[in-house]
Amino acid sequence: MNIFVDSKMGDDMRRRELYRGSIFVRFPVPAALRLCRLAQELIEEAFPGVDPLRVHENLTAESCAGVLAALKPKFIHHPRAKQYIQELLAEAGCDLEATFFDVPRLRTAYPGDYLKSGIAYAFHPHRDTWYSAPFSQINWWMPVYELNSENCMALHPHYFDRAVRNGSGGYNYQKWNEESRFNAAKHVHTDTRVQPHAEEPLDLDPQIRFVCEVGGAFMFSAAQLHSTVPNTSNVIRYSIDFRTVHLDDLLSETGSPNLDSACTGSTIGDYLRGSDFSHLPETVIARYRDRAGAVELVS
Ligand SMILES: [Fe+2]
Repeated sequence: MNIFVDSKMGDDMRRRELYRGSIFVRFPVPAALRLCRLAQELIEEAFPGVDPLRVHENLTAESCAGVLAALKPKFIHHPRAKQYIQELLAEAGCDLEATFFDVPRLRTAYPGDYLKSGIAYAFHPHRDTWYSAPFSQINWWMPVYELNSENCMALHPHYFDRAVRNGSGGYNYQKWNEESRFNAAKHVHTDTRVQPHAEEPLDLDPQIRFVCEVGGAFMFSAAQLHSTVPNTSNVIRYSIDFRTVHLDDLLSETGSPNLDSACTGSTIGDYLRGSDFSHLPETVIARYRDRAGAVELVS
């Protein structure tokens, strides 16, 4: 596994590296900074007169969840967010005709036990491929405010080539969307919605925590095991993540190997073309969406 820092490698070769488990750390670029500033503006507007990093000291978890329930979709669907992703992809050397992205998510990680579920779900160790992501999906992650090693995200790359028993066989993305995603704001203290978890003890160490600057980012394969770091700092972490897929790789079924994902359905309908925000061709969507779970896990 390699870590490429501020690499100028072309996108075709970069994707091959990512599919093999490499990680790319990107230095700040103007479009990513614009995206972070948009998130900052919306956050500060949503919590007027409150230090955005210390909302937990001023608001009850219920009030905060109520604000997030409006703030997060506002960011996700903001027209400038899509435009900045488009610019960011161009700056990263991606072919906008063949690269498709999903809308950027705004995530939060609160100190201690404040708001750990629902709208601010703290992600246990998982691969996105347990959640119906294609094996050629690439995740992009960036902090909105200054990050520290106690409130960031961790990758567990020693599991990249090691299968983990997990509950992905019971997960179907389409079904999840229909049944429970829109109820996230209701789950303030506990989250009863069924999600794929590891079903064996995990060694989370060694782990890698990328503490990048605002406007910086790191990219990794959707098949990498990753988790939210328990926030032991006294400040809230806000971060942005989005995902990309490349049409050629979807057509040729190039991507990371599938060791242990058995979910059904696909996130394939979510991606928008970098150039004009159109969806993937219907034939590609149908091919991935209708696919049954790929791996039968044995004990
Ligand atoms: Fe994830």
